[in-house]
Amino acid sequence: MTRVVVIASLLALRVSAQGSPGLPFVINTWGGPFTAATDAAFLSLKNPTTSALDAVQIGCATCEKNQCDGSVGYGGSPDENCETTLDAMIMDGTTMKSGSVAGLRRIRDAIAVARAVLEYTTHTMLAGDLATQFAISNGFRASNLSTPEQEARCAAWREENCQPNYRTNVFPDPKTSCGPYTGVSLNSSAPGYKKAINPDATQASHDTISMISIDASGVMAAGTSTNGATWKVPGRVGDGPITGSGSYVDGEVGGCGATGDGDIMMRFLPCYQAVENLRLGMSPKEAAEDAVKRILRKFPQTASGIVVTSAKGEHGGAGSGWTFTYAFRGGNMNATEVVRVPPVNPVVEAIRMQA
Ligand code: GLY
Repeated sequence: MTRVVVIASLLALRVSAQGSPGLPFVINTWGGPFTAATDAAFLSLKNPTTSALDAVQIGCATCEKNQCDGSVGYGGSPDENCETTLDAMIMDGTTMKSGSVAGLRRIRDAIAVARAVLEYTTHTMLAGDLATQFAISNGFRASNLSTPEQEARCAAWREENCQPNYRTNVFPDPKTSCGPYTGVSLNSSAPGYKKAINPDATQASHDTISMISIDASGVMAAGTSTNGATWKVPGRVGDGPITGSGSYVDGEVGGCGATGDGDIMMRFLPCYQAVENLRLGMSPKEAAEDAVKRILRKFPQTASGIVVTSAKGEHGGAGSGWTFTYAFRGGNMNATEVVRVPPVNPVVEAIRMQA
């Protein structure tokens, strides 16, 4: 009887996991322009001197240079002051060391600076202007991250009274006015208090490259790079540089990369959760779905995407609020494939599309 149950469970596992195309293997959030990153990382692993960490860095740097869909690298997701700041992290699945930069200013190469944090310090994260100083002292070049297109976008946003934005419980009313804003007491009976609440203050845009690589010998690494959320409050840091949220890898088990509403997602460490789910015996898809559902139980409207791979390259994904895609290439594949992942909550997606 027990044997029957075990065999049935194993069969269910096989059905719900996408088989591995073999090693080396690279997988990352999103298709379209993000597949250039998959190809760059995968092809780099054909050279036996390229490590799994190198491949993740090469893949994410490709997206930073190409700006992918505008959500990675310079010139995207300006904050209220029209400045682009970058978040990135990189993690070694063997040593479990991770390096990250948060709110990096005036340096384009965020994933490379995260790698420098990993390699040249015993810290995990550097932030803001002082992360910029660290980068410059390590030979990175400072430059303006804004573009003429970005400046025009910011001018139009200001024309539209700074809509949308992420302010809430402030005066003047953030749904109709630009700042400067002042916080109102939640117990206030002051006139205007109710009008000042901005319940729709959720992310207007947020995509990210999160990548996992496995070299030909099975060594794993993971990383994330993003310019965060458009019209964020200056100083805002998202999920990207948070170990276990933006991405996570344990070479004995597997890896995970995330994209989506970082302000919500970072509260749940979904990639840490997904890798621990793998350790407990879930398939990659089950592990991803469980991590997404944990978020949705508290925040049902969250836009999220999680891609998960086992240490062998079996993979799966889950998302909410949009149709998430991920890209992978491994073994003898001649081209990257893109997998479409319908949302686990299609009703929520329908509501968002009507909005
Ligand atoms: N997932 C990117 C961000 O929210 O910053």
